[in-house]
Amino acid sequence: MDFPLRELTRRKFFNFLAGFGAIGVIAMVTYPLLNFLRPPRRSSESASYVEVGTLADIPEGKGRDAIAPDGEPVIIVNLTGEGKLVALSKRCTHLGCIVQLMENELYCPCHGARFNLEGKVITGPAPKPLPKYELKVVGEKIQLGGPLEVV
Ligand code: FES
Repeated sequence: MDFPLRELTRRKFFNFLAGFGAIGVIAMVTYPLLNFLRPPRRSSESASYVEVGTLADIPEGKGRDAIAPDGEPVIIVNLTGEGKLVALSKRCTHLGCIVQLMENELYCPCHGARFNLEGKVITGPAPKPLPKYELKVVGEKIQLGGPLEVV
């Protein structure tokens, strides 16, 4: 006696396996192809620099806004009494609002986070310090590079 229902079940099972395998093959081809087409993240070594002014433009304890090569808003601060410059992202690490330089600290107007002039959190809710950017001085000219940590 023949059992057509049993053969039909087996056929469905093998069709399912073939379909599942075809999906796997498509995924194995598509994923590396999409990774190849996506531009790589820029490391700090390969970042280009943009000129953002001269040392005379930033008195001690003051800051100057700039746009980094990656398009991020950055503030360059001349740290009082230390004679060194630091470049910090202006994007608050809480929810991304733009921080403002106020007296001797950076203040986020959205939820009140405060950072010192080296980007460290004074009061929350910001969970992390402001990311730092590469900076170099060539002669009198200040050049701004990419982020020091890849985010
Ligand atoms: S976005 Fe800056 S404190 Fe919330």
